[in-house]
Amino acid sequence: MAEQQLQNWVLMVTAQTPTNIAVIKYWGKRDEDLILAINDSISVTLDPAHLCTTTTVAVSPAFDQDRMWLNGKEISLSGGRYQNCLREIRARASDVEDENKGIKIAKKDWQNLHVHVASYNNFPTAAGLASSAAGFACLVFSLAKLMNVQEDNGKLSAIARQGSGSACRSLYGGFVKWIMGKEENGGDSIAVQLVDEKHWDELVIIIAVVSSRQKETSSTSGMRDTVETSALIEHRAKVVVPKRIIQMEEAIQNRDFPTFAQLTCADSNQFHAVCMDTSPPIFYMNDTSHRVISCVEKWNRSEGTPQVAYTFDAGPNAVLIARNRKAATLMLQRLLFHFPPNSDTDLNSYVIGDKSILKDAGIQDIKDVEALPPPPEIKDKVPAQKYKGEISYFICTRPGRGPVLLTDDSHALLNPENGLPK
Ligand code: ADE
Repeated sequence: MAEQQLQNWVLMVTAQTPTNIAVIKYWGKRDEDLILAINDSISVTLDPAHLCTTTTVAVSPAFDQDRMWLNGKEISLSGGRYQNCLREIRARASDVEDENKGIKIAKKDWQNLHVHVASYNNFPTAAGLASSAAGFACLVFSLAKLMNVQEDNGKLSAIARQGSGSACRSLYGGFVKWIMGKEENGGDSIAVQLVDEKHWDELVIIIAVVSSRQKETSSTSGMRDTVETSALIEHRAKVVVPKRIIQMEEAIQNRDFPTFAQLTCADSNQFHAVCMDTSPPIFYMNDTSHRVISCVEKWNRSEGTPQVAYTFDAGPNAVLIARNRKAATLMLQRLLFHFPPNSDTDLNSYVIGDKSILKDAGIQDIKDVEALPPPPEIKDKVPAQKYKGEISYFICTRPGRGPVLLTDDSHALLNPENGLPK
């Protein structure tokens, strides 16, 4: 009987981890298996209230294999990236004791115990919003807590990196640097926090999720092709980025928005230039992306000093970083003027996240969008161009915190009785 009870316990941990967007881009690996980059990168962590992964990990002697469910659907854990993370965390596990439940797990037992993982992204996984960064960071963070791994987030970042390179930057809030490192085993290729999310809390981030989603080149194969064929990538990694990293760190420390914006836009543009310099060329941005850039550039120029920075990852979505709420409000008005929603879309689902920006912009319903005047800096086109339906939706957010444990059982994605999805 006692033996039976011992076999039936389930021990669980739930964590929430943010996603991040690079302002100095990671593009190109020096080691494909360990995921080691050819240059340092810097990112801003996005508020998990609007973009995050929640993951529950459970262990039980009753589990006969490692299993994972992503957004409710079972997926295979057999891929090398998942296996690397599981192996590295298990190797660092310590004794665990839960006195209330009468559970004792010795360090050596972890090698023979199986885990269940349930993960949920609070944003569409297919939207191209770096879900694997938040996903692998959350997997590593939650497993480390479950297995009582006694290592800091920097060490954990080197494990998350082996799941997805940019995942290492999601172990911290605020602005984060991924140091490429020099060691062959990747031990020094870790993330460090530059400043926390309170340091520059005036910033507002608007993500424009672009509608037409053709099949994109995966980052993994895109990077490999760039490293193999681009004549520009070496100059970028060895000469341009090291200089920009120093300048960007200083701009962030000083909250120097003009320098920050200039570096962010230039680095996004250079990343897309090396993609174009790849054979065959890779096009991640589309016409809508280019129209967003042109809208931001025109407004910034008319103001005489940058109000908004733009950056684009390996896809057409625009990430716009506004210097403050006022700039974000004026940006959103411009975006809604040029990119009104399709007639069957309601405003509530067209602008999501921090809706107070929409309120500040004086927009309560679709009629207010239709009544927006053309931005004053548009003088060359009469009437000013509109691109209805080209954007699926906007997410208004801000810089956010790093991973947290969710101790309230109500957040758990696995059933505490049997360790299966709720
Ligand atoms: N890829 C996309 N989302 C993920 C998640 N939540 N966990 C692991 N891998 C992912």
